[in-house]
Amino acid sequence: MSKSPRIVSTTSAVPALSTLPQHVAVIMDGNGRWAKGRGLPRIAGHRKGVEAVRELVTACGELGIPYLTLFAFSSENWRRPETEVRLLLELFLMALDKEVKKLHTSKVRFRVIGDIERFGPKLGARIQAAEELTRDNQNLTLTIAANYGGRWDVAQACKQLAREAAAGQLDPESITPESLEPHLSMAGMPEPDLFIRTGGEQRISNFLLWQLAYTELYFTPVLWPEFDRSQFDQALASFASRQRRFGQTGDQVEGQPLEQPARAGKGSHA
Ligand code: FPP
Repeated sequence: MSKSPRIVSTTSAVPALSTLPQHVAVIMDGNGRWAKGRGLPRIAGHRKGVEAVRELVTACGELGIPYLTLFAFSSENWRRPETEVRLLLELFLMALDKEVKKLHTSKVRFRVIGDIERFGPKLGARIQAAEELTRDNQNLTLTIAANYGGRWDVAQACKQLAREAAAGQLDPESITPESLEPHLSMAGMPEPDLFIRTGGEQRISNFLLWQLAYTELYFTPVLWPEFDRSQFDQALASFASRQRRFGQTGDQVEGQPLEQPARAGKGSHA
């Protein structure tokens, strides 16, 4: 069982430092290009991408990284050709059916964040069932961001605060970043320590805008279907080599002890 990390907002306090990230967030880009390079339809790249997801989940389980968050479908991905959107949604459904039992056996807690209503009742019900089944698992929390946008997330959190204010339960003057956080989709989870984007682009693309405030960013030209364990190890090595200062000076940080990674070699997801 993993040691629960202390939940610290990086702008209100300096979190404990560790050479192993406690939370990794990934934009899995390059599936389309991978397929095109092989003369295959784009969906073949997404299918191959699911294999890379499986490998990364297994690696996080083995290394004892307790949180993994993947950007599977952004609120802007609806702009893609209708056929690709439909095939992607079918792929999610198939992946859910095929993988959830295995995730549960590996003690992985499965969560989806985003405005999932637009996916329709069938996918919505499967997501809910998977979340229910795995809710008490403690090896790894796997969060899939689907129809998710960072701006949508902040806006929906503001809406909740506005409702409380309109009902006279909240003084607008008392609102702080800390009072907004419990209303965000990632409430209760530590902010990502490491963000990875494959496929060569160097942007955040409306992913976890609020939570990435002090996250270490890692960009690689490797296309998502080719992001394997050795690629992940390179990202982790890059993370371990960084000095995280959270607004402090380098001298202050050098005097601070590093936390040892929580555990290693347990909880793999086959
Ligand atoms: C970006 O590549 C990828 C996506 C929009 C979809 C990601 C989906 C998967 C990896 C498969 C399903 C995942 C789960 C969690 C079941 P792109 O199509 O933009 O690639 P391109 O930039 O080369 O066109």
